[in-house]
Amino acid sequence: MTQAQKQQKPSLYLEVCCQSEEPRLSLKTSIVLFLLSYCECKCFKAFLVSSRPPDHRKLPEFLDVSASQPEDLPQLVKGCRLPAVLDETGRLCRAGLAVVLRHIINKTLEVDPSRNDVQALLGFKKTCLKACAEVSKWTRLCEIGIPSAVEEHLQNPTNQYQQLPLFILTLEQRLAEPVKVHNDDKIRRQKLHEQRQNEKNDSPGGKVHVDNESQPGQSAQVPDTVELRAALAKLSVEPVPALTTRENSEIRKVKTTALPPLERVFAEGLYFTLTDVVLLPCIYQYLCSLQDHTACTLRRLPHLRQWYSRVQEVPGVLRAAKACGMTLSIANFSMTRTLEESVEDNPTTLPEQEQHQEMTTELPFVGGPRPTLTKLKENGIEAVFAPHPRPGWTLPWDNLPGAINPAEGKMSNIRAVRKRQQLNNLVAMVIDLARPGYTIVDFCSGTGHVGIALAHMLPDCQVILIENKEESLVRAQSRSTELDLKNIGFIQANLDYFIGPFHIGVALHACGVATDMVMEHCIQARAAFVISPCCYGFIQNAVNFTFPKSKGFQETLTNKEHMILCRFADQTAVQLPPERRCIGKQCMGLVDLDRSWAAETHGYSVQVMTMEPESCSPKNNMLVGRPKQKSGLEISANQKEAVAQN
Ligand SMILES: *[C@@H]1O[C@H](CO)[C@@H](O)[C@H](O)[C@H]1NC(C)=O
Ligand SMILES: *[C@@H]1O[C@H](CO)[C@@H](O)[C@H](O)[C@H]1NC(C)=O
Ligand SMILES: *[C@@H]1O[C@H](CO)[C@@H](O)[C@H](O)[C@H]1NC(C)=O
Ligand SMILES: *[C@@H]1O[C@H](CO)[C@@H](O)[C@H](O)[C@H]1NC(C)=O
Repeated sequence: MTQAQKQQKPSLYLEVCCQSEEPRLSLKTSIVLFLLSYCECKCFKAFLVSSRPPDHRKLPEFLDVSASQPEDLPQLVKGCRLPAVLDETGRLCRAGLAVVLRHIINKTLEVDPSRNDVQALLGFKKTCLKACAEVSKWTRLCEIGIPSAVEEHLQNPTNQYQQLPLFILTLEQRLAEPVKVHNDDKIRRQKLHEQRQNEKNDSPGGKVHVDNESQPGQSAQVPDTVELRAALAKLSVEPVPALTTRENSEIRKVKTTALPPLERVFAEGLYFTLTDVVLLPCIYQYLCSLQDHTACTLRRLPHLRQWYSRVQEVPGVLRAAKACGMTLSIANFSMTRTLEESVEDNPTTLPEQEQHQEMTTELPFVGGPRPTLTKLKENGIEAVFAPHPRPGWTLPWDNLPGAINPAEGKMSNIRAVRKRQQLNNLVAMVIDLARPGYTIVDFCSGTGHVGIALAHMLPDCQVILIENKEESLVRAQSRSTELDLKNIGFIQANLDYFIGPFHIGVALHACGVATDMVMEHCIQARAAFVISPCCYGFIQNAVNFTFPKSKGFQETLTNKEHMILCRFADQTAVQLPPERRCIGKQCMGLVDLDRSWAAETHGYSVQVMTMEPESCSPKNNMLVGRPKQKSGLEISANQKEAVAQN
């Protein structure tokens, strides 16, 4: 590929599975292709990444597709899980299903802002699948849970007789739940109005009010409900019919709490969104496979089948599916639901009640941190802060280009001073650890203060900035372009999607478990780390980590007691009384001590220190970890590079 071609369009890299004898498109690839088809998006040059040439028959014809060998991928893309998009500059890579899908929507709308149907996919406040999988159980279910459950099922479709995957059951149950949508009052009143009309019609002598538009025949498969009409109206940009008649005032008097609940129409609620786009290729393949192998199982998924036939009502869905080789209308699973069926075969309750709300549960709090601190002390555990090896070291701020300086932005003067102080601390530690040829990753990079300073100070190293928030990363990229930095790359993704080798991981103010995720990532890559944690109170929202993490703490504290430490670790704000802040700092030190002990069991030496000056942030802890080697300190850069390339 020549440079000129590369600059025409962003490149979209898609995964092909080669485990079986026939290379086939992965489910995630099918989802991306389906969205491209739905959007009729021609903004990308697509590459099917595979060691063997895949079957081109199922690809949308309008798409510009070629094959690529995994080893030929650009370096930045190689470091990411697919799907991924590399922008025209070759410096910004977007990776992961949700990020790539949202980007396709963005590109489609940039070309054609009139595509309301495409805009609507992003849902209310345009947040559909935006929260990352670590935070949102719903994103996790849709982005990871369902696709991988179906992928697993497809590997071995006959084996799972009658056993429905938990994720599928969760979805089935979710589809049965009534919905709340923003401003649903109007639709619920409309529904009440229609219910009353129907009652009147049914009662003899009542005023007959036949609605000639809804033909009885039509309602057999897809019932003509207020919900469905509202949902489809949204896509065609027609307003929901408003109440106009005398009933209006009568209906309007009904209290909100007395209004009928709305039935779920699509996965997120009333409206067809990106979530449905993700689910359709998965559920299509899953239902087809059940049909072929264990058709009776279909009876246990009434809501899923109903959803599946509703989705086909959405304008554009059948066309898009056909273009990707999904012949939806042939696969017709909408058996009529009998009463017995819905009684007998209702999906069994889930083994563990999965809740779908975002996790905002606060621990009921009793007492202060003192009993916990005392307990630790009695067991010989106290916060230890290692001395700062480079107190007073500072970046040459006066001689640095403006774009590196945090004062550049809209930051207040005092915040800019503190930010510079924080950067001094992290950069000093990284410079100590870095060797020529190292790759340094700035996790949670935000607008790139740390990463850009590092790239400037360490021209012999490669710096990669990873950030989930697009706006931040785009700003980081434009600042780096201004500085003409060559040794820098950008990845918009959850850090899960970064799999490339690196030598040092950095994170400034990694919130809650983000600190633990970065540490885990570094440990897996045998990389050193320099992390300043933040928002200890969020630690209780952990999905993937159990606290305390280390054996020493586990033997002394229960999870609840540890959470007390986390909670009080956040009480270090300057406006608090000094003794409270002092306890806060101790709690912070203890939470990080537990983290450092856990890392030490993986062969690391870890120090918890305080950034200089202490006032640079209320969250002024810094964890510095180095992988221990049998001989000497670390493997040389060259050796590591060789390992990485194998
Ligand atoms: C697409 O993304 C860019 C960068 O974040 C943003 O500035 C732009 O407003 C988005 N466009 C649309 C149509 O959403
Ligand atoms: C949880 O941890 C496992 C194993 O380390 C990892 O494979 C998975 O991606 C993690 N999930 C999340 C949501 O972080
Ligand atoms: C509606 O249906 C009724 C009874 O079937 C019929 O008499 C009437 O003409 C129809 N009205 C319209 C507008 O089609
Ligand atoms: C699907 O099956 C139902 C019931 O068997 C039938 O009434 C309907 O016409 C079928 N739809 C399609 C599109 O084949």
